[in-house]
Amino acid sequence: FHNKRPIIMANWKLNGGVDLICSSVASLINQPFAAEIVICPPYLYLRDMLNFLQHSQINVGSQNVSKFKSGAYTGETSAQMLKEAGCQYCLVGHSERRETFGENNASCQLKIERALQSGLTPVLCIGESQKEYECDLTEQVLTRQLTESLENIDLSQQSICIAYEPVWAIGTGKSANAQVAQKVHYFIRQQLKAMYSEQTAQNTRIMYGGSVNKNNAETMLEQPDIDGLLVGGASLDPAHFSEICNYA
Ligand code: G3P
Repeated sequence: FHNKRPIIMANWKLNGGVDLICSSVASLINQPFAAEIVICPPYLYLRDMLNFLQHSQINVGSQNVSKFKSGAYTGETSAQMLKEAGCQYCLVGHSERRETFGENNASCQLKIERALQSGLTPVLCIGESQKEYECDLTEQVLTRQLTESLENIDLSQQSICIAYEPVWAIGTGKSANAQVAQKVHYFIRQQLKAMYSEQTAQNTRIMYGGSVNKNNAETMLEQPDIDGLLVGGASLDPAHFSEICNYA
């Protein structure tokens, strides 16, 4: 399965600027990483990033995508525009977008459709809240997020990535235990198998996100069902991020 190459994604969120672009590019560009590296800067910097990385192996993704194709939707950026600019990936349904910007499984479904139609690979972000975790609802929440977000999405010809980000682990410094994360990833893969096929389940890369750093990255990546990492805070330090990339 060629697309099972591990993937390490940086999600800068609302951080960074030209300085961070320059220092990140400098620390990553000439390294022969075994993993696929993807950086998701804020929209405004996608072009700069793409220009700098033109002749490199590193890919660029957006942190969001519009559910609309075009028209009177002020402030939106379409999948087609992102693809045309040179992006390969887009995040969909990050928990911060769900919490603060009213996104839900239905909007994720539309965004995934748009992304796939335009040739972008969507990275569907799912995960349970602290409360859901405490009430042992993780599997229930994930099943719902997967079935609703992927309703009518055909994955026989195209692929998506999944990022499992337990909300309680995001930006808290409290990452999930690797064995616990592995169990959840295995569960997600079983769900994909039930919804699609064994092949789709095996081909889909499932990343872990939530307080990933250089101290836990390696153990995470050793787990059989953890195919990559989605890194927030630690990706804002280029040296730290490149160390994480080197583990894969
Ligand atoms: O998308 C990645 C992010 O939500 C994880 O953030 O800062 O916990 O690595 P962080």
